[in-house]
Amino acid sequence: MAIDTDEILANASQEIEAAQDPQALDEMRVRYLGRKGELTALLRNLGRLPADERPQAGARINAAKERVQSLIDIRRGFLETDQLQSQLTDEVVDVTLPGRGEQTGSVHPVTQALSRIEEIFVGAGYDVVDGPEIEDDYHNFQALNMPPHHPARAMQDTLYLEDGMVLRTHTSPVQVRVMESCEPPIRVICPGRVYRRDSPDPSHTPMFHQVEGLVVDEGISMADLKGTVAEFLRLFFEQDLDVRFRPSYFPFTEPSAEVDVGCVHCGGEGCSTCGYSGRLEVMGCGMVHPKVLEMSGIDSERYTGFAFGFGVDRMTMLRYKVDDVRVFFENDVRFLKQFR
Ligand code: PHE
Repeated sequence: MAIDTDEILANASQEIEAAQDPQALDEMRVRYLGRKGELTALLRNLGRLPADERPQAGARINAAKERVQSLIDIRRGFLETDQLQSQLTDEVVDVTLPGRGEQTGSVHPVTQALSRIEEIFVGAGYDVVDGPEIEDDYHNFQALNMPPHHPARAMQDTLYLEDGMVLRTHTSPVQVRVMESCEPPIRVICPGRVYRRDSPDPSHTPMFHQVEGLVVDEGISMADLKGTVAEFLRLFFEQDLDVRFRPSYFPFTEPSAEVDVGCVHCGGEGCSTCGYSGRLEVMGCGMVHPKVLEMSGIDSERYTGFAFGFGVDRMTMLRYKVDDVRVFFENDVRFLKQFR
């Protein structure tokens, strides 16, 4: 039997040259050099040759194997450079193109107003505290002097949850939580979301924001309340406002008042913002009811306090002349962009 490696080599080099990818080269390697490969088969058959021809034939086959291996290696190197090259041309970056630009967001107008409010009160030595939005009946109503079936509960259309909890209807329950856990002197504001069963209209959304204020100490009087509220309003609206306290009723304050200011837009002449009354109603307030202090463990003989509460969304609307509160929650970027 003659050993002919030339033909095998000629075929192999043709096929390797034609291989287009690394997998094809792997197939070549198996076909010629693998355990059942063509050159391997020749080696296995060496034994059939006369003994004196074997060394020379073996050397030829091994040389052929090496040759095939090096052809494969060369072709593989070539394919790899080729691939890299086309990747480089495909993924080329044109550094002369203008950039795509980034859309930066901005702080929501209600958040901006809230930050201003916090800044004003923190500057006056108040702490900012949070309370739960899912509140129990005791903190939302009872501890604020509204026992079950109290008619004042009807002032706030409440979203009740199945387990007797409520979505808090105001931030006043946080007053209670602060009084339960802190000794006077107390000076806090409590901002947060509140919920009422209202259908959305230009001045109502079922979720809105309030800020509660509470001060409890020895000798706190209505004069402190009036001074604090008037100064806050002046700083927030950045104008000298005509502030009026109008007697009102809240079960948890006594006496209670509603605060009106001269319209921040028309200055009192009458416009659509103030409903041509020249005045705007901006918050509820009063002296903390002694019963409310006592229920939360504060000695009402020694301490007195005042509380106030207002809507942040409403303040924001007044400050920025927005006439429909719903736009704050529709997330229309064209609207929000104006508050950069
Ligand atoms: N919680 C009251 C409301 O939501 C506002 C208020 C707060 C009134 C504190 C008096 C004192 O209407």
